[in-house]
Amino acid sequence: MVVYLNGSFVEQSAARIPPDDRGFLFADGVYEVIRWYDGRLWEAEAHLARLRDGLLKTRIGYAGADELPRVGRELLERNGAPADRMRLYVQVTRGAAFRAHAFPDRATPPTVYADVAPMDTSSDELEHGIAVITTADQRWARCDIKSTSLLANVLANQLAVEAGAREAVMLKDGMVTEASHSSVFAVADGVVRTAPLSNLILAGITRRVVLDLCDELGVPTREFPLTEAELRNAGEVFLTGTSCEVMPVVRLDGSPVADGRPGAVTRRLQEVFAKRTRTGRTLF
Ligand code: PDD
Repeated sequence: MVVYLNGSFVEQSAARIPPDDRGFLFADGVYEVIRWYDGRLWEAEAHLARLRDGLLKTRIGYAGADELPRVGRELLERNGAPADRMRLYVQVTRGAAFRAHAFPDRATPPTVYADVAPMDTSSDELEHGIAVITTADQRWARCDIKSTSLLANVLANQLAVEAGAREAVMLKDGMVTEASHSSVFAVADGVVRTAPLSNLILAGITRRVVLDLCDELGVPTREFPLTEAELRNAGEVFLTGTSCEVMPVVRLDGSPVADGRPGAVTRRLQEVFAKRTRTGRTLF
């Protein structure tokens, strides 16, 4: 597999990142995951805007975000991969320098890495839904930054896997924040609910797309803190994300969500989402 590292396209086995890279030592970096659908890098501008925002907030000096779609396209070509059912992963760290907490010398170049890999959402899971668990949100107070510091997310997701579930929905002070790598929605009394944007959650691109789709469909939405009790009593629960799209949740901590089947609003959103992303392919 050919990957991109600091301006060069190299075989992954030949890609060398020094051990004093701050991404390795401190998880001092930000990343993005963008997906191709039918030749299009889906919502590329929104993902790149979030990356620029993360770079600004972390004060990592990388000004090449505009180049990344071209880098992604070249990665597909060099790997003989189609611009569909693939994702682009991009990571930018503060570069390699002698280990010290404060920023290195201003001349230290950031490390910029990108690769492509297949990404498809299980049609079986999209159709039948998934099980999730709840767990304490043990992350830091800047979850709005798409940082590579994902240890709390990793631990939460592992708990889900060990419980035979697919995702971990995180709770903070009795409120739903988000899941380990997706956004959380609930439908109650016909209103689509999700946590408001704040430092406690990532501004999911799919979250925004789905809220916009609700507006188009005339489905009322409310971006307002969602309590654990509201989640447990919701008529429908679903997750959104680049990897899971619009994913019905049918079991929560081992109990069925409502009647244990994907709900009508979730289904409608899945259909419209699929129409927007896939031209000429069926969802299930
Ligand atoms: N995860 N919340 C968290 C904590 C996430 O890590 C993600 C995405 C989302 C959904 O964001 P978006 O709709 O922009 O993909 C929400 C990526 C895909 C990952 O870590 O692999």
